[in-house]
Amino acid sequence: MNQRRDAILREMGLAPLWRLRAVRGAEEGVVAQAPLVPEQTPNSPGQQQDAQAPLAPGTTDAFVSPQHEPALRPVAQLTPASLLETATAAVRTSGDVAGLGWEALEARIHSCSACDLCKRRKRAVPGVGDRQADWLFVGEAPGAEEDERGEPFVGQAGRLLDNMLASIDLRRGQDVYIANAVKCRPPNNRTPESAELTACFPYLQRQIQMIRPRLIVALGRPAAQALLSQEVKIAAARGRLFDYSGIPIVVTYHPAYLLRNLQDKAKVWEDLCFARRTMARLKTDRPPE
Ligand code: URA
Repeated sequence: MNQRRDAILREMGLAPLWRLRAVRGAEEGVVAQAPLVPEQTPNSPGQQQDAQAPLAPGTTDAFVSPQHEPALRPVAQLTPASLLETATAAVRTSGDVAGLGWEALEARIHSCSACDLCKRRKRAVPGVGDRQADWLFVGEAPGAEEDERGEPFVGQAGRLLDNMLASIDLRRGQDVYIANAVKCRPPNNRTPESAELTACFPYLQRQIQMIRPRLIVALGRPAAQALLSQEVKIAAARGRLFDYSGIPIVVTYHPAYLLRNLQDKAKVWEDLCFARRTMARLKTDRPPE
């Protein structure tokens, strides 16, 4: 298992392996950012845990000692100074999209002409995966291969995303849904404009309403900004929890950025561990439905 994970981490540019050190002193309601220490740094007993270790029975997390972090409380009970950085997106009216089921929504996306991106698309790319997933990963917009195939993240960045998922024991389609903030390819893969993000947002909004994920991972700035309705700098937003309509959001770098900036690989690994830790705590703390 460790060999497989090592291979995955090497593949996604995340080797050498890193261990996460839990930080004491987090006040109630504050998430402590766990600093990274290189593997060769000796563990002090009770302080560090092996990022490769399996989840211990009865603990919420393999990476951070549970007593070092406060319980994750429902978003609605949180104040801005508390566990979550509240940046709730203004609820935007989505017109008739709000009432659509999956098939009708996807048909609407395929025939959408709400912005000029429709003029050059081959295929719109609604999203793919488990429609009842706990995890929702939101990217930026389709690239050339996605535009050809109608599926998100099937190019080089997609292969890296799959490896990122595997590194936290997730797989595309299994408890994971993958969507983009913008459903049609921008020319030359340019960053989507804010008008395009706004025009497309009702589709993502409806997908979130139907999936009801426990956690959203925003991959890159456009995805984070679309979800949070505010300017976001990934470097500043990492390691914090944001909120979209009661659903926690973790922000990290986009896989395409990581392909160009391998020096940030450890940060993405850290963010994935944070997301996984957050999910474990959400599952533990959430009252039964
Ligand atoms: N980048 C994205 O943000 N989404 C895709 O689907 C592919 C590349």
